[in-house]
Amino acid sequence: MTGERIVFEGGRVVDPANRTDEVRDVVVADGVIAGPEAMEGAERIDARGLVIAPGLVDLHTHLREPGFEHKETVETGTRAAATGGFTAVASMANTDPVTDHAAIGHVVRDLAAAAGLADVFPVGAITKGRAGESLAEMGEMVDAGVRVFSDDGDTVSNARLLRNALMYAKAFPVEIVLADHAEDASLVEGGHMHEGSNSYAMGVAGRPAAAEEIAVARDLAVARATGGRLHLCHLSSARAVELVRAAKAEGLRVTAEVTPHHLTFTDDDVATYDTNLKMNPPLRTAEDREALREAVADGTIDVIATDHAPHAIEEKESEFDLSLPGTIGLETALGVVLTELVHPGRVSLMRALETMTVAPARILGAADHGGPIEVGRPANLVGFDPDEGWVVETPFVSRARNSAFLGRRLTGRVRFTMLRGTLTVADAKATR
Ligand code: DOR
Ligand code: ZN
Repeated sequence: MTGERIVFEGGRVVDPANRTDEVRDVVVADGVIAGPEAMEGAERIDARGLVIAPGLVDLHTHLREPGFEHKETVETGTRAAATGGFTAVASMANTDPVTDHAAIGHVVRDLAAAAGLADVFPVGAITKGRAGESLAEMGEMVDAGVRVFSDDGDTVSNARLLRNALMYAKAFPVEIVLADHAEDASLVEGGHMHEGSNSYAMGVAGRPAAAEEIAVARDLAVARATGGRLHLCHLSSARAVELVRAAKAEGLRVTAEVTPHHLTFTDDDVATYDTNLKMNPPLRTAEDREALREAVADGTIDVIATDHAPHAIEEKESEFDLSLPGTIGLETALGVVLTELVHPGRVSLMRALETMTVAPARILGAADHGGPIEVGRPANLVGFDPDEGWVVETPFVSRARNSAFLGRRLTGRVRFTMLRGTLTVADAKATR
């Protein structure tokens, strides 16, 4: 398949890696971007009206395999990823067994390679079993290519352990990033949504914004004390954004991410008790959402990541308090970002794509991904129609259907995705 030659004709090529935005042909031969000499005999694909960008990179995906294949598998999750325009995803470590040693990562990567739909970069757990008590086999995992570590789902509650992990990570010759799910455990225990007037009216126990503020402040203090490289997962509150902005101004080595759902919804939307809007951290207020949008625009937040969190139907279709937290997001992320940020003029297309391509690729150490779209580079690409309207509906490509965006109309749809010269998605459908 990689021997194929394809020319995408007349697309608008937006490449955040070299900040170019121009209408031109893109030639692909033997799995890489080629020069015009390779156009001879190539298949021609009309890309007029499409934006062509580096394949999207998701820094925060739960693929659930091994252990929770009833929710998602590497194959179904990467098919959903490809459908959403992604060529690479980081798979979170809250599997069973936990990805706290190299063997699990090897299994996940092999499954991804066999499926051939997207490259998967397993995230290693920071602590053994994600139990928060002792460090995982970080060295072994770094040797196996792991660059990002996270106990996501839970914060690393023990500050001393986080400090040790940040110091240990500094000792490697490659950049190792520790990504924290920043919610103070004691404050969120038993809580199911943002704590505020809506949670009081609904009679649902809350997870206060202060939980995030405290965890972020502590994480930044430990990063400052160690000089370690910290990444903050899925920020949800205005005060956390403010702390990160100040930390960056100070020169701390910190990056931060936000999800499409936190950029879209508020806790007012949760008042319907729709369990698809239950996730951790929770959806917060309109002021928080505004701060998150501004932080994407001004660079305080580096990455938009999905936190794709598939669950089985019966795990979501229960009482609000009993249902599991999380929304799927791979198939809708780009459409949501275009609809909520780019089309209303809140964030430029270049900036939005930067947060979904080159920025996460750098953090992940995914050198083949995120662009630039230049001769000789691996042909990892997405083509999307920025103006095509569609409604988010079942069935999903993901095994799960717990989407916060169900029923919403989005403007912007992926038409093709290419992984190393092979179309994983053509005419908006997965090819394999
Ligand atoms: O809502 C969430 N779901 N937040 C997390 O941090 C974990 C995730 C999951 O694994 O389901
Ligand atoms: Zn998380």
